[in-house]
Amino acid sequence: MGFDQKFYAEAEEEIKRRRTVNAQLQDSRIAEAELKAPSIREYRLEMARTGEKLANVILARPSDAKEKIESIEKANLALQEKTEKALEEVGLPKDYLDSIYNCPKCRDTGIFENRRCSCFMDIVKRLASERLNSSSPMQLCGFDSFDCNYYPDVVDTVKKVNVRKLMQHNLDFCVKYAENFHLPNVSIVMKGQTGLGKTHLSLAIAEKVLEQGYSVIYGSAPDLFRKLEQEHFGYEKSDETSELIMSADLLVLDDLGSEFSNPFYTSSLYNILNTRYNSGRPTIVNTNLESAEIQQRYGDRITSRLYAMEQLFFLGKDIRVQKKLAKK
Ligand SMILES: Nc1ncnc2c1ncn2[C@@H]1O[C@H](COP(=O)(O)OP(=O)(O)OP(=O)(O)O)[C@@H](O)[C@H]1O
Ligand SMILES: [Mg+2]
Ligand SMILES: [Zn+2]
Repeated sequence: MGFDQKFYAEAEEEIKRRRTVNAQLQDSRIAEAELKAPSIREYRLEMARTGEKLANVILARPSDAKEKIESIEKANLALQEKTEKALEEVGLPKDYLDSIYNCPKCRDTGIFENRRCSCFMDIVKRLASERLNSSSPMQLCGFDSFDCNYYPDVVDTVKKVNVRKLMQHNLDFCVKYAENFHLPNVSIVMKGQTGLGKTHLSLAIAEKVLEQGYSVIYGSAPDLFRKLEQEHFGYEKSDETSELIMSADLLVLDDLGSEFSNPFYTSSLYNILNTRYNSGRPTIVNTNLESAEIQQRYGDRITSRLYAMEQLFFLGKDIRVQKKLAKK
């Protein structure tokens, strides 16, 4: 169970790198401070000696150990104070020479209270997410390349709305959603026929949200469900994909309805929507299915959860085809 072992090894390496970088930074701060205030070098040497003395007392355990330890500690404190004062005199913060940690909780050991620290698991998850997302063309679909002129400036006879205005509204909504991304947040369903920009807009959101440091998982329903199935029933049991899908700050579940229909997929979908909803983590669901088809295929419980989301309808003429014709 858990994540691919290689991600744990890579996370160890990453934490080791952090320690090295921080130690180098601390060394350079010490050199800088000693240059500006040479007395600091003396204090530090003296402190190192008191450390040695302390170790000797602890090992030798003389009868007056307690008094000796107290006096060493007092001397040490005085040196500490002198150092801080010297730092302030040359305009440096008094904690300037302290050890530097990316994660003060585990002090960059990766272990906190005998377990893997959250900072360590964040690295593991980030690496696993990158692998899961590696097939998506995240960079190709920004908001900038989304052009509303592809949508006809006419009123749709069925929906009774101006198609271009509707799509402009969808674009505005998505830009705002991405720029003001926060948790908890509302989920979105993008509905419409093929080639109308659902994947494009959801990837544009994903890219912006990723930039803000949130975790994002993008996958098509057939791909993600197949991975869940393999991990659940396969020879090597794992819950990597499931863990990533459930815990990502944003999940983009693309092409819902294009996967095979089977009970495992349906219950997986229910669990995903429900778990994520309960923890306030939003999902963007894209589908070609009409409302009646959703109801028929997934049943009441899933349908009602999808309806509770923000609904964006996509209208227009297949832009894949428009672009292809324009090339000719
Ligand atoms: N408004 C737009 N401006 C520019 N390019 C667009 C726009 N909408 C879609 N495209 C491009 O058209 C192609 C099809 O769009 P997209 O894949 O987003 O459609 P879709 O709605 O997800 O279709 P499907 O339901 O088949 O998955 C993509 O190459 C996309 O970049
Ligand atoms: Mg699509
Ligand atoms: Zn930590």
